[in-house]
Amino acid sequence: MNCAKNAPLPPNLTLNLGLKSRNTFGLEVKAERAFEINDAAQLPALFEEIALKHWSWRVLGGGSNVILPPNLEGATLLMNITGQEVVREDESDTYLVVGAGVNWHELVAWTLNHKLPGLENLALIPGTVGAAPIQNIGAYGVEIAQYIDSIEAFDSKSNAFVTLSNKDCQFAYRDSFFKQNPHRFIVTKVIFKIPKAWRARVHYADLANFFTEAGNSNPSTQEIFDAVCQIRTKKLPDPKVIGNAGSFFQNPVVGADQYAQLMKQFPNVVSYPDAAGQRKLAAGWLIDQCGFKGQRVGEVGVYEKQALVIVNHGNATAADILSLAKTIQDSVKGRFGVTLDIEPNIL
Ligand code: EPU
Repeated sequence: MNCAKNAPLPPNLTLNLGLKSRNTFGLEVKAERAFEINDAAQLPALFEEIALKHWSWRVLGGGSNVILPPNLEGATLLMNITGQEVVREDESDTYLVVGAGVNWHELVAWTLNHKLPGLENLALIPGTVGAAPIQNIGAYGVEIAQYIDSIEAFDSKSNAFVTLSNKDCQFAYRDSFFKQNPHRFIVTKVIFKIPKAWRARVHYADLANFFTEAGNSNPSTQEIFDAVCQIRTKKLPDPKVIGNAGSFFQNPVVGADQYAQLMKQFPNVVSYPDAAGQRKLAAGWLIDQCGFKGQRVGEVGVYEKQALVIVNHGNATAADILSLAKTIQDSVKGRFGVTLDIEPNIL
């Protein structure tokens, strides 16, 4: 162990901090020790302290993809590293370095204002830049993995900073190396590689319908950004109004045989082709078919316009949310034989 006794204590520590406004589910949560992280250089000393005191720890970004217990013991790191800067460009790409604490949607808007199109399909996804690669956020046919050059992170195992290339990150649908190795890395900076060649991606049903109805066969970046914002606002609940964490379940992937069986029994099942001949089923459709849309159980419920979203009607706890999730999982399993995995991290 290093001489942690002499390590300076981070000045930005708050004891017993309420986190209701820092998690989009709006759960009543208290953090025993909350450390505001404004600079990656704070991390080595803090992790020496964490090791010395045997504290449990976790990082909170925008709190938009987590289910938090009423009490968070040990150290809670509030990721607040800001800043975005174009660092270099070549003939084909522009490279952008962004702090992990930057708000994702604000970054997307910033890139468009700085003539760096590409991220517009990912507008209005809640959360921070540092959290985005962990679950490889995606929407309307685009995933963040396509735009990541590399990631700078602090490795709590070796107490050192590391740089991971796009390949090292092992991105897959809602998955990454970080997600596979939980509780180890703290993303501090994301280096984006934005191609200079741009093309509109509006093949995803909701977007395609939007532009067909608008009679617009050649939408601009800004028009796509605006359309995505409108579609999301209509379909997904605003966490400021009603607590939620976006999609609560991942779309389950099934093999060709299971898909063929399902199709026989349920010819209307909504699905998309996936890698290696597998099928990704629309979890929202499965849950909807089981009759959960708009249902309420005490303080929790299923959103009335999108069955994939669990909402907090006011005073829900993590236990209420997980209990409803279990009911939904059991019901979908019973009817379709398909297992639904929870998307947000349960801390
Ligand atoms: N559907 C229903 N009932 C519902 C919801 C959906 O029948 O209540 C059916 C519809 O037929 C629809 C299909 O399911 O065509 C798929 O639904 P949708 O287009 O709304 O997309 P999704 O697959 O439910 C995914 C992402 C979203 C992302 C959208 C748009 C996952 C788990 N979710 O949802 O991501 O915004 O596509 O690209 O992959 C998030 O992760 O928080 C999130 C919102």
